[in-house]
Amino acid sequence: MSASESSSVSAARSALVSEAGQDWVQRSLRSVWHPCTQMRHHESLPMLPIARGQGAWLFDPEGHRYLDGISSWWVNLFGHANPRINAALKDQLDTLEHAMLSGFTHAPVVELSERLSASTDHVLGHCFYASDGASSIEIALKMSFHYWRNKGLPAKQGFLCLQGSYHGETLGALGVTDVALFRDAYGPLLRAAQVMPSPDARQVQPGETAEQIAQRALQAVHDVFRQQADSLAAIIVEPLVQCATGMAMYDPAYLKGLRSLCDQYQVHLIADEVAVGCGRTGTFYACEQAAMWPDFLCLSKGISGGYLPLSLVMTRDEIYQAFYSDDVTRGFLHSHSYTGNPLACRAALATLDIFEQDDVLVSNRLLAQRIDAALAPLAQHDRVKHYRRCGMIWAMDVSLSEGDKGFARRFFEQALRRGLLLRPIGNTIYVMPPYVLDDEGIDLLARQLPVVLHESLEA
Ligand SMILES: Cc1ncc(COP(=O)(O)O)c(C=O)c1O
Repeated sequence: MSASESSSVSAARSALVSEAGQDWVQRSLRSVWHPCTQMRHHESLPMLPIARGQGAWLFDPEGHRYLDGISSWWVNLFGHANPRINAALKDQLDTLEHAMLSGFTHAPVVELSERLSASTDHVLGHCFYASDGASSIEIALKMSFHYWRNKGLPAKQGFLCLQGSYHGETLGALGVTDVALFRDAYGPLLRAAQVMPSPDARQVQPGETAEQIAQRALQAVHDVFRQQADSLAAIIVEPLVQCATGMAMYDPAYLKGLRSLCDQYQVHLIADEVAVGCGRTGTFYACEQAAMWPDFLCLSKGISGGYLPLSLVMTRDEIYQAFYSDDVTRGFLHSHSYTGNPLACRAALATLDIFEQDDVLVSNRLLAQRIDAALAPLAQHDRVKHYRRCGMIWAMDVSLSEGDKGFARRFFEQALRRGLLLRPIGNTIYVMPPYVLDDEGIDLLARQLPVVLHESLEA
């Protein structure tokens, strides 16, 4: 974005924000270090204060509203200030806000673990809890490594991940992440995984199918397993959609094939469903579309309805049993102070209730058809390619002018001016809305997305 463009956007944004709002922004700049942000960019692009949320909408202190088209970083499922989740939390607040989970237990964590285990037909029988998605990745990696050690196979230490993978920002998670922007600065601190080809279906050549791409990517894993399985602990994947690299979608055949390779060569399969779990891809777990269960399944983001930090790792009983011993060092001694926090678990239980009571997976299919119809004209735009959808995730890539590095920021800014919260990843525009998107929100997307795209393109 040129200096004059950014100052005009900045002026337009400032004009939207009241004096009270400006005060919050200034105080935030003085005291808060914001995530995933080059703070200096806020000199030209002021941040937006948010005063409250309702349904799929966020409101600034002036009362301007913004459609939360990315579910506040992919966490919100049933809208902001959802009355049913609020009621459950208020009840829990008056009962038990927190108790440590080592040596103690409580109803919300037990009920949640039982219900999640039942949702996998008890294949994944135990849940281990943490707070953020990245912590669940650390846990899965450590558990896999420790399992092999407990089994007398300490050489099985290596991890494989996919090209373009993203699993979070802590050091272990960054070690299995293949996004240079997030990883490279910390390269010397990381124990990097081997990177396998992505089955990204956008690689199809004329006459090829997405399944053939998946089979080709599987062949590469097979070659590595054949030679190195003795030194490999696990392969970690984001099932069906690699979100952070730009919504790379792939065929379920890849997961099916990976499951059998992992069985054949005794390598663990870690499914990172932090972003794609909880109905995002059309089934509650993305793995269900490949009719398989992994050895470790990581959940976070949507599981608490987008209310509270909660993550968990579900695993097989055989893995749990390998830690069960009189010897304390064979146990999994990992912990976080807020492990299994009752409020977060109660929000998750209320979220699961909504799934059941409202038959959400079915109603999402109807909602998705309405959103399809609203976005379809964009697929015809001459600068749009690879228009795609998986469940409740829509994405498309924009052909940019040579050297255009500012598209994502320009689009974000223009979208906000038109009441839409959307943040493209590079040249990929995506929509990942809360499941309570109403007709007004769909109409706004249909009307404004083409305008925002037009305004964000350089000639
Ligand atoms: C697939 C995946 N795994 C892990 C994470 C990390 O989750 P958190 O940001 O809660 O640490 C993310 C975050 O976007 C993610 O998309």
